[in-house]
Amino acid sequence: MAKQKTTFYCQECGVESPQWVGQCSSCKKWNTLVEEIVVKESKNKNTWVASSDGRTQSKKLSEISEENLARITMPGKELHRVLGNGLVRGSVTLVAGEPGIGKSTLFLQVALRLKGTKILYISGEESLEQIKIRAERVGSNNDQLFLLAESDTQKIFNEIKKIKPEIVIVDSVQTLQTPYVESAPGSVSQVRESAAEFIRFAKATQTPVFIIGHINKDGNIAGPKVLEHMVDTVLQFEGDRHYTYRILRAIKNRFGNASELGIYEMAQNGLREIDNPSEILISQKDEVLSGTAVAATMEGARPLLIETQALVTQAVYGTPQRTVSGFDMRRLQLLLAVLEKRGGFHLGVKDVFLNIAGGLKVEDPAIDLAVLAAILSSYEDMPILTSDCFVGEVGLSGEIRAVNRIEQRIKEAEKLGFERIFISKYNKSKHIQAEGIKIIQLGRVDELYNALF
Ligand code: TYD
Ligand code: MG
Repeated sequence: MAKQKTTFYCQECGVESPQWVGQCSSCKKWNTLVEEIVVKESKNKNTWVASSDGRTQSKKLSEISEENLARITMPGKELHRVLGNGLVRGSVTLVAGEPGIGKSTLFLQVALRLKGTKILYISGEESLEQIKIRAERVGSNNDQLFLLAESDTQKIFNEIKKIKPEIVIVDSVQTLQTPYVESAPGSVSQVRESAAEFIRFAKATQTPVFIIGHINKDGNIAGPKVLEHMVDTVLQFEGDRHYTYRILRAIKNRFGNASELGIYEMAQNGLREIDNPSEILISQKDEVLSGTAVAATMEGARPLLIETQALVTQAVYGTPQRTVSGFDMRRLQLLLAVLEKRGGFHLGVKDVFLNIAGGLKVEDPAIDLAVLAAILSSYEDMPILTSDCFVGEVGLSGEIRAVNRIEQRIKEAEKLGFERIFISKYNKSKHIQAEGIKIIQLGRVDELYNALF
């Protein structure tokens, strides 16, 4: 018998190596290389290979027909927008998220609500009865929805040929198994080859495919980090499991804006879309308490007002603690250093805790100014007016930098009834006009202190 060919794959980033090494040459993680058996392509491979139907001919741009460009309207505004205003035919979307975050729930709901479209939902994780229980829980029905509990890709494609679905959902890529690779499901070579088969299928038949994949704690798509460059769109479903809010974030989109996001709430009967997130992310309080400030951030093309909370206390132990939730720890350390050096505040002897409302993770640097305001407010134990909000990025020399889309942020703050907004004085656009809200322009972090207290 011929010797089996094996290769070592890094389970984190998918890099291939002919021999075992302790540290991955690409992602530098230790002990991540695992030997996997590779079987070379068999001749009678029953998969979707582009056939010789003229597909390999080159065409003039003007000759390409536009009929397939029409996008499929998704049920639910959030997913529709995150995908770039609809689902493109023949596109492959990878949906990544930690186990238990709600990926299966979201896509079962999508499948149930896309009435009049033939959908095949393939689950390698749950039995048909379990999916039925979930469908009853989210309370919807679609008689064009076909369910299949299978993980063998060849059996799946046989079923696809019979049913001819218009949309395919695969839950999850880690359970798929193609007979052409011998290693276990979930291993890099399995995940890569199984996904590749679905990508070939999508392109050859113009059928959109959603591939759900689990990610590990580090935030890498476990093993299938390798899939990111193969698919058209990567959506990340994230959120803190202890909170009910979930964010669907586009991190790559060949057909739309890659910074778009949608917000959902996990309820007893499935995921509910949140239309005006700002109203929920600002807590309603009667008392004014120190340590909270509202930031006018942008997430994708949508303004989002969000509350930041800080607690600054005397450090009890020798090394002061910094704890963050929903914010980058190094960014907090940088902001504290700026306050210490440029503002003269002695934060080096204080414990600092920072929290972003709702367990959301904010990536917009314009949140900096609100974080500083919250820290200063807690440091001085003086509350900030609930009618104030903040927007601005803070630079290393203590300057408050201009941010993009300032008009939209101001408009949103005005709409939500804020009376004052603190922005950078470098945002010198002529568009900055507002009647219902007072705009206060700041140049440096010490001016913030004087303006507030
Ligand atoms: P699930 O979709 O199974 O997560 P994933 O596919 O990402 O692993 O979601 C499971 C969680 O969602 C589970 O903790 C229960 C919760 N859930 C609700 O709170 N309400 C519901 O209606 C449903 C269906 C699930
Ligand atoms: Mg699931």
